[in-house]
Amino acid sequence: MPGLYGYVTARTKHMDRLLIEDVCAGARQVVVLGAGADSRAYRLTADLATIPIYEVDHPATGAWKQDMLGRLLGRIPDHVHFVSADFGMRTLRSALDTAGVDRTVPTVFLWEGVTPYLVSDDIDATLDALACFASGSSVIFDYWHRDAFDQPCPYPEGEKYIRGLAARGEPVRSGLDPATLTDYLAEYGWHLVDNATPAVLARQYLPGSTRQILSLSSIAHARLP
Ligand SMILES: C[S@@+](CC[C@H](N)C(=O)[O-])C[C@H]1O[C@@H](n2cnc3c(N)ncnc32)[C@H](O)[C@@H]1O
Repeated sequence: MPGLYGYVTARTKHMDRLLIEDVCAGARQVVVLGAGADSRAYRLTADLATIPIYEVDHPATGAWKQDMLGRLLGRIPDHVHFVSADFGMRTLRSALDTAGVDRTVPTVFLWEGVTPYLVSDDIDATLDALACFASGSSVIFDYWHRDAFDQPCPYPEGEKYIRGLAARGEPVRSGLDPATLTDYLAEYGWHLVDNATPAVLARQYLPGSTRQILSLSSIAHARLP
């Protein structure tokens, strides 16, 4: 998977940085959407140990994770909570309410490595569902550039990835257009704060490295005014 190691390394560092900055700036809870094996709740303990963290995922993935954490850590930290939801079912808002996620306090939503696997309606519905949270809440997510799905694909690694992920049973389904991202997010009430392109990520996080970085994906950071 050319460029993946470099991209995921840079993405982890970038999202760690944005998450910690938002928490230091006053966010009172963290919601990890499609948490999978995200380890931030257990790794960034100096910054995250005192606020609630909600890990949202498909029921099967959440159950696998809780089993793994039980084995690795002995017990799950009290401030970490698991929420079952399927972005395709339009039940995210009620699942967050039922889990006790407080809509009235500034919240950071971390949505890493998930949007490419969703159909665009589910990305739209998720951004819409989160827009009822308190002013100052933020969402940090990566997305594939929409033109990666063009034929022929304008990115050197694109076709290999699309074929390879489909063959693994995890097809990528949609992307967003970096050129219209500001307007797209504004439709759902979000203000784009920053969009980190592959070039920016490589410069900031892989200086002096000869590693390739995935060229078809960027990272957005948006906030509710
Ligand atoms: C590639 S993994 C990324 C995991 C983690 N965020 C990371 O970056 O390491 C995709 C995650 O999204 C979750 N996911 C995919 N589609 C979903 C859906 N429709 N509803 C809920 N979770 C979904 C999967 O269960 C998985 O945990």
